[in-house]
Amino acid sequence: SPMAEQEERFRESVEAIPATSVGPRRRAQRAEIGDTFENTPDSDPALPEVRAWAKEALEATPPPLTSPVLESAEAVDDVVATAVRAQAEWVARPASERAALLREAARELEKRRGTFLTVMAAEGGKTLEQADPEVSEAIDFARYYADRVADLDSDLAADGARFTPCTVTLVTPPWNFPVAIPMGGVLAALAAGSAAIIKPANATPGCVELGMEALHAAGIPAEVAQVVRTDEGEVGKCLVSHPDVETVVLTGASETAHLFAGWRVEHARGARVYGETSGKNALVVTPAADLDLAAADLVTSAFGHAGQKCSAASLGILVGSVADSERFRRQLIDAVQSLRVGWPQDLSTTMGPVIAPPEGKLRRALTTLEPGERWIVEPRQLDDTGRLWSPGLKEGVAPGSFFHLTEVFGPVLGLMRADSLTEAIELQNATAYGLTAGLHSLYADEIDEWMQTVEAGNLYVNRHITGAIVRRQSFGGWKESSVGPGAKAGGPNYVAQLGRWEPDGLPT
Ligand code: SER
Repeated sequence: SPMAEQEERFRESVEAIPATSVGPRRRAQRAEIGDTFENTPDSDPALPEVRAWAKEALEATPPPLTSPVLESAEAVDDVVATAVRAQAEWVARPASERAALLREAARELEKRRGTFLTVMAAEGGKTLEQADPEVSEAIDFARYYADRVADLDSDLAADGARFTPCTVTLVTPPWNFPVAIPMGGVLAALAAGSAAIIKPANATPGCVELGMEALHAAGIPAEVAQVVRTDEGEVGKCLVSHPDVETVVLTGASETAHLFAGWRVEHARGARVYGETSGKNALVVTPAADLDLAAADLVTSAFGHAGQKCSAASLGILVGSVADSERFRRQLIDAVQSLRVGWPQDLSTTMGPVIAPPEGKLRRALTTLEPGERWIVEPRQLDDTGRLWSPGLKEGVAPGSFFHLTEVFGPVLGLMRADSLTEAIELQNATAYGLTAGLHSLYADEIDEWMQTVEAGNLYVNRHITGAIVRRQSFGGWKESSVGPGAKAGGPNYVAQLGRWEPDGLPT
């Protein structure tokens, strides 16, 4: 049959590829420079069996919560004392053993992929497309940080510097990446030889408990990796400012990082709050862009997880004729209106709920216009829960305005106009933050100019600006988007900052 013939031709053409073709050669080159890390694959939602598996997972009931809720300063003392004792034993183990346990943790995380979908959907409102890659990222953190364990007693150690890990690292993760970010923090601490205590975000404790269960199942002692819940009042403050907590790894609002640093300012070992914080990120589109791709990437970056990412594109800065292009405008409107808003249990949902009924800055962004702004697509509240909102698209965002400069963390994209790339970069750099930034342009000169002058930790050219991948796009910010030494998550120096290098200080 023609089908069989076609398959035969395909097979022959594949077999004809010489062993020295691009794939294997690149792999060999990478092996030569010692870079053999392969990222964990996501599940493919196009496959019917994956969709059936995911549907079952998304509709399942999450396991009950089990972690203790700390209600007094004494309870905090006990948890920290347990961590201090456990760390002495943990750091005394050979580095190779700690690395092996992290690799085993990667396997245990993978085994729970379906349950992670269950809990992420139930607690965080994450859809399959948003949740599944997050599990892969957590697994990548385990494998990548396992590889970093050996660094700690190699190069610098050979020069006479010695690495001493933090005794106890407290991890305070956000609710928007309730698996990858918590696991990244804990696994980095464990790789360094520190004990980890994690306090989940109030909205997503089950995601963290499941991750910690995987670590314990891998053989990492429960005392060296503890999960505790607290309120965000006095008891939380005791934990954050505890004298035996040496470093706090925070991902969250800039205000929270400053609050924590304030509490720890008298700390004998220094404040040591390492934070990846807020962002107000823009994607610039020049007339030299592939506009079809730019429209798709802008919408993906703005509305993935309903815009609730520190990395999200909140602004599209359109240069010259792009700002005047009726066709581009139409493409954006179509793409925004084609998003299907709903709950993650419905597999046809492409944009899930916001975490809670909007208040404050987000409510202002969803319900009001600033001078000069006009809705192109006006957002609407879709049901009585207050959590389902259709996406908003507006134009005429004015330089220096509320929407230009303020992180709103939700499903609104604002468009700005610039007459040149240089002016677009000025608008992009005008915010206090510097987390992610994007450029769509196919001109090398424009790409060069932009790369030289844009102020952000993660720069993306001709790609969406969310969804950093471990090792390939290590993640972290500049300016107000970062607190502390600022080594990037999923990058080569992240583990090495969770301790002290003596006598030389931190590696650079
Ligand atoms: N790492 C996430 C991203 O790149 C943000 O935390 O979107």
